[in-house]
Amino acid sequence: MSKQRRNRAWYGKLDRDGFIHRSWMKNQGFPDHAFDGRPIIGICNTWSELTPCNAGLRDLAEGVKRGVWEAGGFPVEFPVISLGETQMKPTAMLFRNLLAMDVEESIRAYGIDGVVLLGGCDKTTPGQLMGAASVDLPTIVVSSGPMLNGKWQGKDIGSGTDVWKFSEAVRAGEMSLADFMAAESGMSRSVGTCMTMGTASTMASLVEAMGMSLPTNAALPAVDARRKALTHMTGRRIVEMVDEELAMSKILTREAFLNAIRVNAAVGGSTNAVVHLLAIAGRVGVELTLDDFNLGSELPLLVNCMPSGEYLMEDFAYAGGMPVVLRELSGHLDRANTVMGVDVSAYGEGAECWNRDVIRTVDDPLKPGAGLRVLRGNLAPNGAIIKPSAATEGLLEHEGEAFVFENIEDLKANIDRDDLPVTPDTILVLKGCGPKGYPGMPEVGNMPIPARLVKEGVRDMVRISDARMSGTAFGTVILHVSPEAQAGGTLAVVKTGDRIRLSVKGGSLELLVSDEELNKRCEDWTPDPAHYDRGYAKMYIDHVLQADQGGDLDFLVGKDTRPVTRESH
Ligand code: FES
Repeated sequence: MSKQRRNRAWYGKLDRDGFIHRSWMKNQGFPDHAFDGRPIIGICNTWSELTPCNAGLRDLAEGVKRGVWEAGGFPVEFPVISLGETQMKPTAMLFRNLLAMDVEESIRAYGIDGVVLLGGCDKTTPGQLMGAASVDLPTIVVSSGPMLNGKWQGKDIGSGTDVWKFSEAVRAGEMSLADFMAAESGMSRSVGTCMTMGTASTMASLVEAMGMSLPTNAALPAVDARRKALTHMTGRRIVEMVDEELAMSKILTREAFLNAIRVNAAVGGSTNAVVHLLAIAGRVGVELTLDDFNLGSELPLLVNCMPSGEYLMEDFAYAGGMPVVLRELSGHLDRANTVMGVDVSAYGEGAECWNRDVIRTVDDPLKPGAGLRVLRGNLAPNGAIIKPSAATEGLLEHEGEAFVFENIEDLKANIDRDDLPVTPDTILVLKGCGPKGYPGMPEVGNMPIPARLVKEGVRDMVRISDARMSGTAFGTVILHVSPEAQAGGTLAVVKTGDRIRLSVKGGSLELLVSDEELNKRCEDWTPDPAHYDRGYAKMYIDHVLQADQGGDLDFLVGKDTRPVTRESH
């Protein structure tokens, strides 16, 4: 207990300030020795009944507390804003940076020495990591864990992925509304995150690959007792990390981010990982650019989970989970430290695979070259992305006429019109869904196929927007076009009838309109008037960075690890 820890500036003082800090905490029944200088561990909890994916985190917090007490620390749980992906409007992504601010300021303002982040639903994991990185204390992530596999009519069904399929089947007249309604109860059978390789499972997998959690954290089901045991071990380990002064920045190195990009390819991870990894890297001060994500295109797809494959996270866990993936990729990963204080390769040592159909080998992958591709061209001067493993092979090299929707309302009002002048070769273009435009860059990039084409059996078309797409979605969908339309990017001046050429192999996205004509259109263009003129949303619109920079707020990039010296009384 001899080390001068951060908490001593709150609880170690023998004056009026120390009295106040200790005395008010004692109203919860904490004994004197809790304040004797032992590591105080903040448990940052995004539990909420409005974030069903994180609804099991209160129980998991108790496991962390047991481990912290056992290791001689003092656990204190605190809430931060929670972001329920399926419940928030206009989009949870609008509030990721608000969560990050909440986490950062909570950690900094309180007398804690280390942090355990409890999150899981899509935006909670990156938001917590961003905020914590800006304070840079010893930190470990415990994820909610995925829900049990969905079950309906004797089959496994996956959250998100099957929703998109079912809703298209209803529009095509191939599924009854009664069946559609019945399926929703079978889809979500326990607390936990989406059990496909959506954004939540992707981010949990990348957290493990970056060494920010204990091994096996990503895939164990939310309700598996082994996850509770993992929380206990996390509580023990965070106390040791405080003694070792193993801060986040010693783990989140450039090598760790490059490993995450490679692993994202191998697990068939979400396109959303791009904006989140860029934003986290910005906080911790690591140089990471959009073009770094091309690195993943050399890696094979190993994990056979929806939406790129056919299984679900429960199957992935029982097949061996992330340790098997890390072992398979061992020849492709850079050396990088972990919260365990060992190289990340140790996470995969001795891992055995129990189902080779679920986790493939590098020599026999599900698909070769599976990672995301970055596209550039006059339509996306600062970049756009596509997930080829979730796209239609025959559309990856494509030229067609644009049909433009000026905003989401235009799309919703017209997509199902019987006389919509589109063919399967048409390229659908959606504007106004970027960070500033929507605002918050929602997951609407996988726009529905026009109803009359759905009835003809068309299930995929090239679609281009400044939006994101759910990690559970699929299709030949070009996302994150930067600059976005509302920021005056070329996307803003695309017109119906323009020709567009996509070459995933060449990494290009070109609007086949002359520079002269484009310049003229840009001169005549004016942004949509802002729909939000007060509060957090206004601050967000005024300060949000574009997708190719991670969509953080400009004044939140970087960190501030200076001690807080002023008192409140
Ligand atoms: Fe929360 Fe998918 S909606 S993890």
